[in-house]
Amino acid sequence: DAIRPLIAGNWKMNGLKAQAAEFDAMLNGAADVAGKADLLVCPPATLIAAFAEKARGKKAAVGAQDCHPKVSGAHTGDIAAEMLTDAGATAIIVGHSERRADHGESDILVKQKAEAAWRAGVTAIVCIGETQAQRDAGQTLEILRGQLNLSLPDASTAANLIVAYEPVWAIGTGLTPTAKDVEQIHGFIRELLTSRFKDEGARMRILYGGSVKPSNAAELMAVKNVNGALVGGASLKAADFLAIAKGC
Ligand code: G3H
Repeated sequence: DAIRPLIAGNWKMNGLKAQAAEFDAMLNGAADVAGKADLLVCPPATLIAAFAEKARGKKAAVGAQDCHPKVSGAHTGDIAAEMLTDAGATAIIVGHSERRADHGESDILVKQKAEAAWRAGVTAIVCIGETQAQRDAGQTLEILRGQLNLSLPDASTAANLIVAYEPVWAIGTGLTPTAKDVEQIHGFIRELLTSRFKDEGARMRILYGGSVKPSNAAELMAVKNVNGALVGGASLKAADFLAIAKGC
């Protein structure tokens, strides 16, 4: 694979100012892994500005976990993509399964959020993935096809869009699909991307997410069409996060 891997950390709703030291440790180790992968850390929105300031000139970037589709307006508590980039975010995760489940986000809304990230000038990381029930019912590929069709804007390119495949049953559970399953599913996603976006789809990054940790990272990252990881729990500790990147 000529696609440069991306190891993206999603801190979810974790992190106070006191955790900045952990981010400092990530920045200190970032140069060592820069030959292997790009690094992105998505802290809670409250920490983006401070982290972006620290990351300036370093080998790691700062991203956001969600955005509102609109640029401004009467949307109490929401944050526009432009506000996140103003704070220093260089990528925005959209459509994470926790947003889809906790906030009822539809594929159409996820697509609007991806377009909002572009409007603000940054890459959208669009998450897709099947639940345990859908998997048990043998619907995995059909669910992924539907999510990809509806959540990815037509103007998606290898530069402005990253797909993150996260089986919902693997998130935070310690369970991961086998390397063979990951290869089959990422191959399926690649086929769909290539047939819709041609050469751009062939070069788009497809991240794997769901219980990635130092002990399984190298095996998962070696799978064909796995172009990096979206890491939750293990991205909170600099040593683990850097070890995962070293596995690329
Ligand atoms: O966005 C990250 C994923 O939801 C994975 O979370 O690594 O804690 O399983 P996890």
